[in-house]
Amino acid sequence: MAGRFAGQAVIVTGGAGGIGLATARRFASEGARVVVADLNGDAAAKAAEAMAAEGSDALALPCDVSDEAAVEAAVAATLARCGRLDVVVNNAGAMLFKPLEQYTPADWNRILGIDLMGAVHFTRQAFLHMTGGAIVNVASVHAERTSPLVAPYAAAKAALLSLTRSAAIEGAARKIRVNAVVPGAIDTPMLWDNPNVRSGAETISPGDVGKAENVAAAIAYLASEDATFVTGTALAVDGGRLGRL
Ligand SMILES: NC(=O)c1ccc[n+]([C@@H]2O[C@H](COP(=O)([O-])OP(=O)(O)OC[C@H]3O[C@@H](n4cnc5c(N)ncnc54)[C@H](O)[C@@H]3O)[C@@H](O)[C@H]2O)c1
Repeated sequence: MAGRFAGQAVIVTGGAGGIGLATARRFASEGARVVVADLNGDAAAKAAEAMAAEGSDALALPCDVSDEAAVEAAVAATLARCGRLDVVVNNAGAMLFKPLEQYTPADWNRILGIDLMGAVHFTRQAFLHMTGGAIVNVASVHAERTSPLVAPYAAAKAALLSLTRSAAIEGAARKIRVNAVVPGAIDTPMLWDNPNVRSGAETISPGDVGKAENVAAAIAYLASEDATFVTGTALAVDGGRLGRL
């Protein structure tokens, strides 16, 4: 299939639903062979089957991004099946909601493990195996401004932007570009399951809610040759929410 990613192999973590699935579909529509890597292996398999039925080249891999050995295995499986790896989208994410004093070290490790260390593990594998290409990290407006009860998530997403800068600097010698998107409120289960949104502690007006496809388009841009001179940046995809007082 022709397109900006024709012949390329792309891993999308958390690709079984929400922003990840929209991103997997976007890359596939532009010619990529897409690997849907998700903790939920059944949902990943269903997503890949649905994409294959639409004529896309997709395969599913069960993978817990917080487990370095599982990440190494997912990259090895991708290289074995596709013979190359061009793009990694670190999209898998999870949230917990608790007052700060109730967070246990295990809670912190779980959220940092998925939302930060998942990207660390994939960046390491990318640097070991990719020559050229791009990494796109999916951060959040919580990296910059936040609300109560989500301290580990906000900390992980802020650190993910820092990782993006470090990896962009060190990736340059390998011709690997590393960027982040900073989504605002996006219409996925993660948004509407958010207790802060349900309780009204975090108010979101309808005009502030974007679509997963809006984020997917920004991710595809950052991964593409259209962004050849773009690395180490964080692109807000929030309908302007962060910029308002
Ligand atoms: N929806 C929003 O409003 C919003 C806003 C800002 C940022 N984000 C970020 O976008 C990303 C995608 O969020 P979404 O809204 O599509 O959420 P979602 O809950 O719909 O999808 C998240 C996916 O990640 C997978 N996942 C969870 N833990 C994993 C693990 N350990 N290993 C592999 N996969 C795992 C889940 O199975 C799921 O398929 C997340 O990083 C999230 O923090 C979302």
